[in-house]
Amino acid sequence: MAGTAEPKDPARSASSHDHWYELREGEVAVTLPEAFDASLYYIGHIHTPWKRREDCPKNARESDAVCTIEVDPRWAEGLTGLETVSHVLLLYWMDKARRDLLVQSPRHYSERRGTFALRSPARPNPIAASVARLLRIDGNKLSVVGLDCLDNTPLIDIKPYFASTDAVPDAQVGWHKGRKR
Ligand SMILES: C[S@@+](CC[C@H](N)C(=O)[O-])C[C@H]1O[C@@H](n2cnc3c(N)ncnc32)[C@H](O)[C@@H]1O
Repeated sequence: MAGTAEPKDPARSASSHDHWYELREGEVAVTLPEAFDASLYYIGHIHTPWKRREDCPKNARESDAVCTIEVDPRWAEGLTGLETVSHVLLLYWMDKARRDLLVQSPRHYSERRGTFALRSPARPNPIAASVARLLRIDGNKLSVVGLDCLDNTPLIDIKPYFASTDAVPDAQVGWHKGRKR
């Protein structure tokens, strides 16, 4: 059921940047389900230079900043073998994003689009994905280049990026054709 912004959105109380939660003209929000279907573990946190969303790069290729991923020591042994990998696929939890938007008008695009046609952090499960270059691993800390999130964003998974199976050089996003980023 489409409606107005959900006041129960947990991210609303997590940030002082309330303007990020205001609906823009033409945006559509939905009433969120009453219960979750699953739960997850944060396996660590990402440290970046960005404290405000407006300062974050819009995507992983927009910045060369070195970021540090601090994996919770409980999971550190799970990094064994990762030191041989050049690029990692990082999945992280956009903890300051609203979760009820169906149709969005991103600030940097003029047209409205459905949430699932966008890489916006606002989505029912605010999972972000980036392929980052792995510079080094020191114990439970990874230094990487290729992130676009706020400092202290929770990390939910790390996977080796396989160019052989993950890269699709001829993939297209029709509505984005002709734009640089
Ligand atoms: C467009 S998303 C792309 C994320 C990821 N690369 C992807 O494609 O799934 C990146 C933007 O999310 C916003 N953002 C960053 N960290 C966030 C957080 N912890 N919670 C909510 N929004 C965040 C910033 O505005 C940033 O520019």
